Amino acid sequence: MTDFWNDEQELKEQLLHVSSTIENTVATAHGFIRPILLDHVQSVGKMLRPALVLITSALGEHSITEDAVRVGSVIELIHLASLVHDDIIDSASKRRGKSTVYAKVGAKQAVLAGDFLLAKALLLTSGKERGMDSRVVSAALSRLCESELDQDAGQGDFLISRHTYLRRIAGKTASLFALSCYSGVALQEAPPVKQMLCHRIGYCMGMAFQIQDDVLDYAGSSSKLGKQTGNDLKCGIPTLPLIYALDQEQRNGGAELRDLLLSSTVPLKEKTVKQALVLVESLGGVQKAEILAESYKMRALSDIKRLAHPQVERQLGNLFTKLSKRSV
Ligand code: FPP
Ligand code: MG
Repeated sequence: MTDFWNDEQELKEQLLHVSSTIENTVATAHGFIRPILLDHVQSVGKMLRPALVLITSALGEHSITEDAVRVGSVIELIHLASLVHDDIIDSASKRRGKSTVYAKVGAKQAVLAGDFLLAKALLLTSGKERGMDSRVVSAALSRLCESELDQDAGQGDFLISRHTYLRRIAGKTASLFALSCYSGVALQEAPPVKQMLCHRIGYCMGMAFQIQDDVLDYAGSSSKLGKQTGNDLKCGIPTLPLIYALDQEQRNGGAELRDLLLSSTVPLKEKTVKQALVLVESLGGVQKAEILAESYKMRALSDIKRLAHPQVERQLGNLFTKLSKRSV
């Protein structure tokens, strides 16, 4: 298990239960794909989504840890499935420093392996008294797919608006964060106002998280990230630092970055990526993106205060502090 939760021992133990639920699920896979999927699910990240379910599940009187572990496992399995598919779409050979499922078994088997994880996630949603509303899960999943479709259809189009970018990341990342925060408090059958507040907290956290992730693709360290920096640019995916930089360049009356990108084809050459990374940084794109991430964070923190629950406030606040320091 990741060291990320060392300062929250109880939560860490609950997350270990999430890990074993997921591993037991994967253990039922076909012999050929089982070791590959096990390796994928064991190369755990921070398990942010199940942690959000577990944290917000404390917003009520019922003792529901077992259900929160199960619901957290559902959301993590959906996330893991989406990463398997995402790596196929991106032709990515590495994730978290390890070979991707796609790199190991190719696209055909990887599609099916991702589908398998999704099928098992759906199985875990059902059959219990306290569960997940399938309409809410379906809405988040649909948004995830729509955003990826939109991003893929627009691949190579670097001149998108900030609005288009924000809509995409709302679907591909914030939707699952919102689902996570909502699902925990929904298990408590908390009043709808509280459920909506948690949904919004998750949404803002997800937006801040994805913007920060996109910033790291411009300003992170390849060795720490376990994948190449500049990968989004190379694949023709415009993210916020680039959008701000292009905007600034236009205001300055320049066109070097814009011309560089318009005269290139996807995948971009290494040299072009390097030139573009330098220009984005010098036009202040990275810095402006960090400011927007910060404003989502502030919105989430102000909503977290409104929950008026010291433990949840502390845990979510600590989570933000740790995430702000991340370089991975
Ligand atoms: C990673 O983001 C990708 C996602 C958060 C979503 C991917 C969603 C799909 C492929 C839709 C299919 C969904 C399911 C449930 C099967 P990123 O590409 O910005 O980050 P990365 O750098 O980690 O790849
Ligand atoms: Mg990707």
